[in-house]
Amino acid sequence: MWTSRYAHRLSQGSRRFLSSASGENIKVTLFPGDGIGPEISSSVQKIFSVAQVPITWEAVDVTPVKSASGKFIIPPESLEPMRRTKIGLKGPLATPIGKGHQSLNLALRKAFSLYANVRPCKSVQGYSTAYDGVDIVTIRENTEGEYSGIEHEVVPGVVQSIKVITEIASNRVAKFAFDFARAQGRRKVTAVHKSNIMRMSDGLFLECCRKMSEQYPEIEFGEMYLDTLCMAMVRDPKQFDVLVLPNLYGDILSDLCAGLIGGLGLTPSGNIGANGVAIFEAVHGTAPDIAGQDKANPTALLLSGVMMLHHLRMHDIAQKIENAIFKTITDGKFLTGDLGGKATCSDYTKAICENLQI
Ligand code: NAI
Repeated sequence: MWTSRYAHRLSQGSRRFLSSASGENIKVTLFPGDGIGPEISSSVQKIFSVAQVPITWEAVDVTPVKSASGKFIIPPESLEPMRRTKIGLKGPLATPIGKGHQSLNLALRKAFSLYANVRPCKSVQGYSTAYDGVDIVTIRENTEGEYSGIEHEVVPGVVQSIKVITEIASNRVAKFAFDFARAQGRRKVTAVHKSNIMRMSDGLFLECCRKMSEQYPEIEFGEMYLDTLCMAMVRDPKQFDVLVLPNLYGDILSDLCAGLIGGLGLTPSGNIGANGVAIFEAVHGTAPDIAGQDKANPTALLLSGVMMLHHLRMHDIAQKIENAIFKTITDGKFLTGDLGGKATCSDYTKAICENLQI
C-alpha cells in the first residue's frame, strides 16, 4: 500500500489508456538514461516481465546531438515515441556542469508540459532509519522558477540568472496540490516559500496558494519559510503532510525528504502534465561513482514504475510488485550497498522476481 495511496489522483487523467484496452499491451516509452540508468532500467524490465505486466516498452536514446545552430539538443525523433504513448518511464540523465548541453530533464518536462512533480516520501516497511512514520508528499512546480534556463553574462565576471514565476503556473500547481490532497483524504497542504526575500516572485506563488486554499475548506492550509521548514523537518518530519513548492525549493527539499526514509535509492517520482501525460522517474541521478558495477539499487525506478502502473489503473499488478519489493527489503538478505547490504543489483532483482512467484 505504499504508492497506491497516490494512485487515485494520478490516474484521474488516465482513463483514455483504459478505454483503448482491448487485450492489447499498452505502449510505454522507456528512457534508459545514463550512468546506472541502463542497469536499473533493465532490472525494472525483468521484474515487469516476470510479473507479466501487459505493457510493451519502446526504448529511446536521448543522447544529445548537435543542432544546426551549434547547440546540443535531444534528437527530435527520439521524442516521437513519447508523443505517441503519452506515458514514459525514465532513468537518470547526466547534465554537464557549466558548459555543454542544457539539462535534458528540463527539456523533456518542457516538451510535454509536465507541470507537477510528485514525490512521495514514506517510511519504507522493513527498513528502519532515524525517523519513523514519515509520510510526506512534495509537489514541486516543474516548469519555471530558477530553472527557466534564462542566463546571460552581463559583463565579464558578472552573470545573471532569471527566476520566472507566473500566476498561471503557480495556480496550476497549487490546484494540483489541493486536488491531490482532497483525493487522498490528506489533512494539510503547506506552501513553502521565501517571500520575505523574494517578495514579488515567491509572493505571487504564495498568494496563488492562499487563494486556491479558499476553494478547499476541508483541507488545512499552512505556509512556511523554506529555511524554517528545513529545521522543523529534521526535528520532526511527522508534522508535515503535503508540501507545495516552487521549482528549486522542491528539488532540494525532496532530496532531504528522501534522506529521511533511507536515501535516494528508494524514492520515486512522477512528472504529471495535462490529460494523463506523465513521465515517471527515480529522484536520484546517474550515480557515476557506481555506474557499470552492478551495485545500483533499482528500487526508486521500480517504485516509479509502480506509480506508473497505478496511473494506468493497473492497481492489482502494481500492488503485487510493491509487495515483492518490500518483502525483499524486509527479508534483508539481498540488500544493495546503499541499504547496508552486499547484494548486487542483479541479486536484488532476482530476489524480487522470486518473491513475485510466492
Ligand atoms: P546522484 O543521485 O547521481 O548520486 C548521489 C549519491 O547517491 C552517489 O553517491 C550515488 O552513488 C548515490 N546513488 C544515487 N542513486 C543511487 C542508487 N539508485 N543506488 C545506489 N546509490 C545511489 O547525484 P549526483 O552525483 O549529484 O549527479 C550525477 C549526475 O546525475 C549529474 O549529471 C546530475 O545532473 C544527474 N542527475 C540527474 C537526475 C535525473 O535525471 N532526474 C537527477 C539528479 C541528478
